[in-house]
Amino acid sequence: MPDLRYVPEQRLWLLHTPSTSYAVALDDDDNVRHLHWGARLTTPAIREPAAGSSFDTAGGPRELDAEGGARFGPAGLQVRFADGSRGVEWRYAGHDIDAGHLRIHLDDRHHPMRVTLHYRVHDDTDVIERWTTVTNSGGPIAVQRCDSASWTLPQRPGYRMSHLVGGWNSEFRLRRTDVPVAETVFTSRRGMTSHQANPWLALDDGAAAEEHGEVWSTALAWSGSWRITLHRDPAGHVTWTGGPGHEGLTWTLGTGETLETPVYAGLYTDGGFGAASRAWHAYTRRHVVPHPAEVRPVLYNSWEATGFDVDEAGQTALAAKAARLGVELFVVDDGWFGERVSDHAGLGDWTPNPDRFPHGLRPLADEVHRLGMLFGLWVEPEMVNPDSDLYRAHPDWVLHTAHRGRTEMRNQLVLNLARPDTAAWTHAWLDRLVTDNDIDFLKWDANRAFTEAGWPGHADPDRLWLDHTRAVYQIMDRLRAGHPGLRIEACSGGGGRADLGILARTDQVWTSDNTDPVDRIGIQHGFSQLFPAQVMGAWVTDSPNVATARRTPLRFRFHVAMAGALGIGGDLTTWSEDELKEAAELIEVYKRIRPAVQHGAAHRLTGDGTLSAVGYSYEDQFVVLAWCPSRPFGHDPAPLRLTGIDPAAEYRDTDTGVVHSGAVLRQSGLDLDFPQGDHASVLVHLVRVDRKG
Ligand code: GLA
Repeated sequence: MPDLRYVPEQRLWLLHTPSTSYAVALDDDDNVRHLHWGARLTTPAIREPAAGSSFDTAGGPRELDAEGGARFGPAGLQVRFADGSRGVEWRYAGHDIDAGHLRIHLDDRHHPMRVTLHYRVHDDTDVIERWTTVTNSGGPIAVQRCDSASWTLPQRPGYRMSHLVGGWNSEFRLRRTDVPVAETVFTSRRGMTSHQANPWLALDDGAAAEEHGEVWSTALAWSGSWRITLHRDPAGHVTWTGGPGHEGLTWTLGTGETLETPVYAGLYTDGGFGAASRAWHAYTRRHVVPHPAEVRPVLYNSWEATGFDVDEAGQTALAAKAARLGVELFVVDDGWFGERVSDHAGLGDWTPNPDRFPHGLRPLADEVHRLGMLFGLWVEPEMVNPDSDLYRAHPDWVLHTAHRGRTEMRNQLVLNLARPDTAAWTHAWLDRLVTDNDIDFLKWDANRAFTEAGWPGHADPDRLWLDHTRAVYQIMDRLRAGHPGLRIEACSGGGGRADLGILARTDQVWTSDNTDPVDRIGIQHGFSQLFPAQVMGAWVTDSPNVATARRTPLRFRFHVAMAGALGIGGDLTTWSEDELKEAAELIEVYKRIRPAVQHGAAHRLTGDGTLSAVGYSYEDQFVVLAWCPSRPFGHDPAPLRLTGIDPAAEYRDTDTGVVHSGAVLRQSGLDLDFPQGDHASVLVHLVRVDRKG
């Protein structure tokens, strides 16, 4: 059972996860102060808060740093009341503890506004889920900022931050750098989680490494705009506050309304970045994704092969080839509907293009099913081309601002799904499409950011920044409820919408439009900081790669993509018989290692600089995927030490039959037999040897 306790004499709450503790307490002014986040404690030290001066605030960090009084840091709650006043003063209004869920209620001393700080702990993870609700029983309140949570580090001699940056085709690049004595803002103002920054942040004291050291990390479960502000002051205090929405947005909380923020989850570990990632992966599987026990099917998607040139004959031919390779899910990408023969027209007209699919999608869906595969389809429900029947009928359904242009990106505009009519229409066509065509899988894309995000005629237009994302969630939730067999892939021009919010209603993420295996190693390394391999869509495509023109062997492409949920995205009509045979064999191998990759514990294995590798330990198996993109003469990779393997066991290599001692693999390492030349890779599948007697 989760362990949550209130200690009345100290007005203190103590939360225990299996190996960490978290403590907060009320001060004399009823502010909820942060006391501890770290190793497990029975009694947290309650230090007298630092004295203030005429220039500085007294007291320690707060759990949600509301604007008001002598507070000068980044505010996690900023409101303006109906009488024009701003700033809050709290009166403690009690708490509830219900299984693993603690709610601390705070009322404003004057205005009828209640803020509740929520904490949820589970007995199988060290992740603590936090969020905020604000209930207004008075006149309208303008909410300028309402964060999900503020987090505080214990004092350490130094601080370093790890975060994910990038762009289209280069998502999830891990950056690790000192925390400046400043306010550092991580944000998306795009209406989407974004390629540029991901709402995951890890802090350490500068000494943590992959397998050791204290790491505090947090992840916001939100798929729209967001902001996290990290503050390091000159005295060495570090706090950060984060939630949905970016600066400058204000929405109104009406009388009787409650605003609930998304979860901002936090995790402490003393086992380094590797242990932090494994704990996030396990949490994501146990508490976030809808069907963790399933293995993700090997999929085929023809986007890179055919672009917009999809039709029944071409897709049927590809499906036949894919089925022979052992593909389990066949996905038709963009170009199947309306006038969508390029990205200039048709988005929004979700009926099959009559020239391309004269009898609709049903014959293709039936053929794919007959071939023993699941049938998937690409959709982009939040978007519209101005050149479409939908836009001609409803030009007011898009995000737009009076007296301003409508900026097109990829020739498209964003539908305002905060509008109930637009959202209802969207759910209805998706529901019909899935029903009529027996669709098993949707690739849900969203290929542009918000601009001119207005809602003319609406009294509270900024609301759409929250309500659009909520509507996406609701439509997905309703679709899944109506079609329990339906699985969804989250995509936004690749990895522009990967977060724990979307993953609560999708099954995998299209990690990046960049399928070059060398680039992918870096992208996958960053992605794996937070997300498990099970949700990481990874395709094998053609060589030379369409984005980088780099030529790589098929085996290397496979070995990189096998580190996630494997897919094939090449033009199979151009693959030679030898390539098709090799691909079929590698898919078979993937199916054997898939339980370990998708359900095992991932260990990023640190090589000697010439290679990178991941090991997956699962039940009696240990799988190693190692990649060596290039190496100078005389620098063959040193043996790879398999952290994460059981030192007390012996393992048989399923390929060679050689038996290795776990202790030796851990201490001295595994000799990897890399083929000569660039883009070399190795897959080793070890199975524990049963000890007789
Ligand atoms: C986005 C996706 C691609 C593909 C195209 C189709 O870029 O990331 O995988 O689906 O849209 O237009």
